Parts: sequence; C-alpha cells; structure tokens
Amino acid sequence: MSIAQNTESTAKLRCIACGATPDSASQDFRCTACGDLLEFFFPGWTLDPLLSDPASLKALWLNRRTSSNALDQSGVWRFRELLPRIPNLEEHVITLREGNTPLYRLPRCARATGVENLHAKHQGMNPTASFKDTGMTFAASSAHQSGFRWVACASTGNTSASMAAYAARGNMHSLVLIPDGKISWGKLSQSLDYGALTCQLRTDFDGCVQILNDLVRQKPVYLLNSVNPYRIEGQKTAAIELMEQLAWEPPDHIIVPGGNLGNSSAIGKALVEMRELKLISRLPRLSIIQAHGANPFYRSVRELGGKKLEPKKLEPMTADTLATAIRIGNPASWKKALRVLQATGGEVEEVSEIEIATAKAEIGADGIGCEPASAVTLAGLKKLRRSGFVKPAEAVVLILTGHALKDPDFTIKFHRGELFADRAVAGTPDATEAAQAKYLQRAPVVLDANLGAVIAALDAAERNS
Ligand code: F0G
Repeated sequence: MSIAQNTESTAKLRCIACGATPDSASQDFRCTACGDLLEFFFPGWTLDPLLSDPASLKALWLNRRTSSNALDQSGVWRFRELLPRIPNLEEHVITLREGNTPLYRLPRCARATGVENLHAKHQGMNPTASFKDTGMTFAASSAHQSGFRWVACASTGNTSASMAAYAARGNMHSLVLIPDGKISWGKLSQSLDYGALTCQLRTDFDGCVQILNDLVRQKPVYLLNSVNPYRIEGQKTAAIELMEQLAWEPPDHIIVPGGNLGNSSAIGKALVEMRELKLISRLPRLSIIQAHGANPFYRSVRELGGKKLEPKKLEPMTADTLATAIRIGNPASWKKALRVLQATGGEVEEVSEIEIATAKAEIGADGIGCEPASAVTLAGLKKLRRSGFVKPAEAVVLILTGHALKDPDFTIKFHRGELFADRAVAGTPDATEAAQAKYLQRAPVVLDANLGAVIAALDAAERNS
C-alpha cells in the first residue's frame, strides 16, 4: 500500500539522496528508488504573492494570535502558509493547541557559561510535555486525512506519548513499540492513559525501529516516526515561532539535542526556508549535542569523517545513557542533520553523563526545569564556549525538548547523590563536574515533626546560602 501525497500542489515530496520526486510515499516513507529519506520542498513558493511579501506574512501570523479559530490558536497551524496543504483540513485536523511555547531568559546559566544573552525555548511546555506535539499534530492529521485506522511508532517515550494523545483525539488506534525498561515511567504512563496498545520489546530503540519498519510493510498502519516527512514539517514551526518571539532578529546560535536527528533537521529546514523567503536576513548556527554514550553522529562527523567533512556513512553503535530520550545508536535522519550543520555552519559536540546531570540542575536552578535529554544543550554550550566556537557577546537559544516531570526519577536520584552510584566519576576528567554537581544537590531532609527541627534546618540552609 502506498500513501498518496495528500497535499496540494505547492508542496512536493523529494528523495534527499537521489532527488526522485514521487507522487506517493511507501508506508515506510523511504524512497522506492534508493531507500533514502523523503522531504517536502515547495516549488510553488516563488509564484505565490503572499509568500513573496514577508511583512504581510508576519502581520497575518501575528493577527491570528487574537483569533478564536482552533487552527489559528495552534502554534503550528498558525504558520500554515509554510506547511504542505492538507485537503479538507478543517475536517481532519487534530490539534491540542500545541506550540505557543515560552522563550525564557536563563540568568544563572548565563552567568555560569559567560554568555549574557542566553534564552531557552521550552518545547516541553507543549500539551504532552515534549516537542513531539508540533510534528504530531501535522502528521496525525495527515494520517486521518489518508483514512488510516491505526498509527504506530517506535519510541524512547516522548513520540509515543504524543502519538497516543493525538491518535486518541482523532479517534484512531495507536501502537507503541518501546524498549522494555529503558524509558521513564512518566512517558510510559502517558501512552497507557491515552489508550495506546503499548508493547515493551526486549530490545533497544533501534531494535524497535527495525520491527516497526517490517510491520508497516505488511499491515495498513501509518508510521509516525520522524522519518515521516509530515512530522518534520510540523516541527519546523518551533523555529518560526522562535523567530517571531525574537522580533525576527535571529540569534547567533541555536543549540539542540541530537537523538534520531529529526528535530535538528526540522529546525534547520525552517531556518533555511525562512531565509529564502526573506523572513530572516541571516542564518543562526545550529549546533547538535549528543550524549557521549549515544554519540554515533558526533563520532561520524568529528572522528570518522574528519572535522566538518561529510562522513560516507554513519557508523551505528549500541547506545547507553541515562538521558533515555536520546539513547539512540542508529539515527535515521543523520543525512538531513548533516546538511543542516553544513548550511548553518553549526558544530556537533558530545557531553558526559555528569555534565548532563549538572546542566539539568543548573537549568532547574533558574526556575525552569527540563528532562535530562534537553539539558545536553546547556552542557554542550559550556563546551562550545570553552572551545571558542560561541563568543561571550553572542546570542544563544537552547531548545529544551521535554518537561522536567517527564523523568522525576533521574532528578531525585541526582539530588540524593544516587545517580552515579554505580558509575565511577572521581578521578576522571569529570571530577570538576562532580564537585559542581555536589554543590547543586538538594536532597530532601527527613525530620521529626517538630518546629524546632524545621527552624534548625532553615537556619542551617540560610548559613550555607
Ligand atoms: N529530547 C527529547 C526529550 C526527546 O524525546 C528526543 C527524542 C530528543 C531530544 C532527540 O530528538 O530524535 O529528533 O534528534 N525522542 C524520540 C522519542 C526518539 O521516541 O521520543 P531527535
């Protein structure tokens, strides 16, 4: 079964490797000629008078913020002029008012990194508490328009939570494949509540992906992983919304976590398209940060291919990191992400487990909070500062991808000093980081229920503050 391209003529599918432009996609969303990924491009844009008029587009989008129409209230559909058009959209759209996420200043983190102009765009403030919702509203609506009863994904937890919610809202069934024991309880609980058929497979994320790819070739099930180009289109809007929040003045750097590399591809695609349409005058550098234990992209770009040289192929690995969202050893969208690095002049970095944990607590100390995978951005920024790639006077935006409550277990273990109980850190290059982590730890204090004990705790805290 093939999936007809259910968009009107302004958008077309194209293979990123061989350039084929099929009218329909196969159910695994791979090019039938060469097997690589597909993407949308927009040959009709140059002919559209509205799209040649950036000031009018910006005014239209701003105006929609006061509208009571559900499409306008979504932070994704508000920017629908830059998305492929789905026929009879009003009948098929599944929206939870996604997007519309805040841009926060991070004053303490700014002091710690020496980058004064530091912001976080918190994509964890989406309806299911991760950035996945922006891509999911678009791809799930497309699945609905194509008449699918079942949607499915392999996930480290956030895609599945998001997919299950949007499927439920659109009266579709959802099938979730997750690695057994390797995702947080918070994320697992979401897909249960939203009614998904949740299968915990005795493998890792990459093993789940393989089984899902085989499944969609046999069963009429719509694939909602980020190889689906509709997902990427929805996720683009985070970058558009960010530029609007910055009054269309791009920052010097945007820093994102890298797992399956769909998000970096989407944000980079949006930046390039916005510059083409003269919505912004220059490209920020987009840098991608991976966890050391799940760093196949970092290794391939930096070590195998030589710095900034294109690696011939990505070398998969068995991934391991406590930031379970990005525990991915064979990222599907690496070629798209590489193109983004090259187009924007961004860097790729890796960070250690303790650097991630410390950065997460530092973001928390700014009153924001995020899940571990998101904190790689701040940890990566510190390294990019040290290497001189990011300069003190430059403006930096971190993309925080998930909410702090996605993985409270990690946070509690960190503050109790139990996170690295079975991992040696002292004496490694992480020793300074370990000292810093200790300073940030705030374990809960268990006391007898009497006023004197509480006052003593308060006085001690005041002396140490
Ligand atoms: N941050 C969080 C919180 C994530 O959940 C993910 C990916 C990423 C970053 C990495 O984004 O894959 O686009 O490079 N989570 C996927 C999932 C894989 O199944 O929830 P990416």
